[in-house]
Amino acid sequence: MVRDISLEEVKLHNTEKDCWIIVHGKVYDVTKYLNDHPGGVEIVTDLAGQDATTDYDDVGHTQEAHEILEKFLIGHLKTGAPIVVTPVGLVQKKEESKPAPPATNSAPAPQKPSSTVSQPVKPKPVQQPEDDSTMMIVAGAVVAAVVAGFMLYRRSAKA
Ligand code: HEM
Repeated sequence: MVRDISLEEVKLHNTEKDCWIIVHGKVYDVTKYLNDHPGGVEIVTDLAGQDATTDYDDVGHTQEAHEILEKFLIGHLKTGAPIVVTPVGLVQKKEESKPAPPATNSAPAPQKPSSTVSQPVKPKPVQQPEDDSTMMIVAGAVVAAVVAGFMLYRRSAKA
């Protein structure tokens, strides 16, 4: 029966004797096919318990291969939690990372510094350099006008 399967569960089936792979979000138990694979056993078992989509597609498998693959479908990879690439490999974000419902007792939980990527980004303070420079230009123009006016006045007073 086809069911929803988590990445964690797929990862457990990672041997030649028990080989599940993910291709395009679907989970296949290809254990019984391994010995019939024209490309060899190892090429598939190297990807056992993993997402084999890229490798499978890169080979340019025929329609016949796609049809064989569908015979081994056992489920769909659980969605809702995206698979992310991390230094330790593919990881499906846990769904329990959703914010917990508010606690019934009143004491607020101590705030731990969080290392998750979903930290809200602090908005940068809005800078308005144009306003400052405009003010400087206006002030400079006023000073220049006053100085020029004063000099003209002095000159005409001398004449
Ligand atoms: C487990 C699911 C898979 C099935 C059902 C499958 C099926 C097939 C089939 C039927 C062929 C013969 C050519 C064709 O019809 O396209 C083939 C060839 C091949 N497959 Fe797969 N394949 C699977 C997974 C993979 C994966 C994950 C790789 C990884 C790299 C792979 C690599 C190859 C290669 C290299 C060949 C060419 C072999 C040759 O020409 O000597 N296969 N596969």
